[in-house]
Amino acid sequence: MAEEKGQTTGPDQRAPAPGPGVPALALEAVHAAYGPYRALFGVSLAVPPGGGVALIGPNGAGKSTVARVASGLVVPSAGRVLLDGEDVTGRPAHEIARRGLVHVPEGRAVFSSLSVEENLVLSFAARVGRRGVGAALERAYAAFPVLAERRRQEAGTLSGGQQRVLSLAKVLAVAPRCLVVDELSLGLAPVMVDAVYEGLAAARAAGTAVLVVEQHVERALGVVDDAVVLAQGRVTWRGPADQAQAAVGLALTGGGGDPAESGAEG
Ligand SMILES: Nc1ncnc2c1ncn2[C@@H]1O[C@H](COP(=O)(O)OP(=O)(O)OP(=O)(O)O)[C@@H](O)[C@H]1O
Ligand SMILES: [Mg+2]
Repeated sequence: MAEEKGQTTGPDQRAPAPGPGVPALALEAVHAAYGPYRALFGVSLAVPPGGGVALIGPNGAGKSTVARVASGLVVPSAGRVLLDGEDVTGRPAHEIARRGLVHVPEGRAVFSSLSVEENLVLSFAARVGRRGVGAALERAYAAFPVLAERRRQEAGTLSGGQQRVLSLAKVLAVAPRCLVVDELSLGLAPVMVDAVYEGLAAARAAGTAVLVVEQHVERALGVVDDAVVLAQGRVTWRGPADQAQAAVGLALTGGGGDPAESGAEG
């Protein structure tokens, strides 16, 4: 990969604000594979600046793969990824992160042997510098009181739901340009689901563009404008979130095609 000449690689590589109509995040006809296993077949979607899109579909549809493509963890075999109109296809994940795209992956993304507060401090220091950490901590604890109560607890001993809240708090105290969240509410107690969705709504209010990957669609649809339905690596429906329920019902009950064809797991 060619080194760019004459460009510093400081912490803020966000492009200047693009013109109107340019999505914060766009995937164009993306194909992706894991070795011989092909997971995405020409997926296109766009999240406008400050906009919200839910990506929904059954297990194995390729939702997490789309999230990984957006954040640079999976490099598409064809197609393009654009941030604010700029082609970042094939750029390393850390560079895409520096450009303002934050990916909260499935599962637990915390340092388990560090305390809750140490996790937050590490993340905030990297994004706002030491001097911004105090204010960011205050915002995080105000938004997620469960973390304030447990600030000294080792993150690895939190419940799965609390770890998910911590993953979200790590990124939300400083509004990213674009946030990609994967199955945030999976396995969470209802009160935790409320907490993470309040966090997402707050991020949107702060101008963050959000791509929400969810299997449990109702909450996701409530916090976005548009929905994209994925089945077996292909977009099968897209449109306004409030019209998605019917389409989603079909997709989730297997109406999207024959799962045997793509080597679905048991
Ligand atoms: N690391 C990997 N190696 C090989 N195949 C993979 C890998 N990750 C995902 N896959 C396969 O790619 C397909 C899409 O997976 P992906 O995780 O993107 O689906 P998903 O929609 O997020 O599913 P879920 O709802 O279960 O999270 C699946 O068939 C999966 O088995
Ligand atoms: Mg997934």
